[in-house]
Amino acid sequence: MIGQSFFAEKYKFVNYVELSVEQHQQIWKVRVSKDVRQFMFNQNIFPFSDHLNFVERLKTDTTKVYFAVYDIDNQFIGSISLHPINYAQRVADWGIYINPAHQGKGLGTTLSKIFFDHIFALNIIEKISATVLSFNLASLKFHIHIGFQHQYEKDGNIYLIKEKQ
Ligand SMILES: CC(C)(COP(=O)(O)OP(=O)(O)OC[C@H]1O[C@@H](n2cnc3c(N)ncnc32)[C@H](O)[C@@H]1OP(=O)(O)O)[C@@H](O)C(=O)NCCC(=O)NCCS
Repeated sequence: MIGQSFFAEKYKFVNYVELSVEQHQQIWKVRVSKDVRQFMFNQNIFPFSDHLNFVERLKTDTTKVYFAVYDIDNQFIGSISLHPINYAQRVADWGIYINPAHQGKGLGTTLSKIFFDHIFALNIIEKISATVLSFNLASLKFHIHIGFQHQYEKDGNIYLIKEKQ
């Protein structure tokens, strides 16, 4: 199952629907911090209750899967998601952010490799697409660095694709 939590190398990828309220509070704080939200499509500071409602909806929405990633010391490293997943076309759009306290140390690269290896091995999807805000040059560079190919740019977004090897 694509949304099943998993453990790989020294990282735990835990589905949002299995996390405690305290863990969600920490995720929400990072998600609405300026360093993260300025690069998201929704750049608003939304209330914690909205975050919890969103997690509640994830329980019945099979087209969206969100994982929080923790290291062996249970530090929250970042969030990786697939949304939406198109099962018929075997493609999913993905999202990633690394907790600002852990950015720029190679963790985005390490975690995305673990994540793609795991997801592609499930044989459910064969292609991952990414949409990056055009001004987010760090993320564009990051996506190229982890093997995405630039497709096109439109209306302030850059579209990229990574195919199963
Ligand atoms: C983009 C992001 C996921 C990258 O994760 P990270 O752990 O910081 O990145 P890494 O340390 O693995 O860096 C890998 C490569 O990405 C690129 N990169 C990462 N941060 C960069 C920065 N600030 N400026 C330019 N390039 C950058 C570089 O090519 C880097 O390789 P290099 O160190 O050999 O030059 C992370 O910085 C982040 O969460 N940013 C804020 C939220 C965001 O933009 N998410 C993506 C939305 S589409």
